[in-house]
Amino acid sequence: MERTLSIIKPDAVKKNVIGEIISRFEKNGLRIAAMKKIWMTKEEAKGFYIVHKERPFYDDLTDFMSEGPIVVMVLEGKGAIAKNREIMGATNPANAAPGTIRKDFAENIERNAVHGSDAPETAAFEIAYFFSALELL
Ligand code: CMP
Repeated sequence: MERTLSIIKPDAVKKNVIGEIISRFEKNGLRIAAMKKIWMTKEEAKGFYIVHKERPFYDDLTDFMSEGPIVVMVLEGKGAIAKNREIMGATNPANAAPGTIRKDFAENIERNAVHGSDAPETAAFEIAYFFSALELL
């Protein structure tokens, strides 16, 4: 059993497709271990994406991630990190496979509908960024 952090980003929340996105996780065998809707400040978004702080898109990305509400979730299941990434599709929707979340809902490489942890270490950091141990029990 593995856990991963998933975010439904401000673009997808605005499109009113939270339910459609969550049902794709459930239909693919992932369970929701924890979930909440929040609105990050710019500083909170910068902290979450701290690994990208040297990237040219860091400022735009953190503006976008703090422009409106998001849904943060802990997904649980066998191979949850890889499975979530498969369901999401490629970071750039132009390269995402048919039937993936990003192919169907993302606007461009930045406004790409969802985020998912890319490795066990990042999943541990990202889950702890939003959820306390009590919320996960
Ligand atoms: P995400 O999976 O949340 O991880 C980092 C995010 O940075 C990524 O999705 C995109 O939203 C954004 N991103 C990655 N590469 C680029 C890029 N080349 N230009 C703009 N945004 C990017």
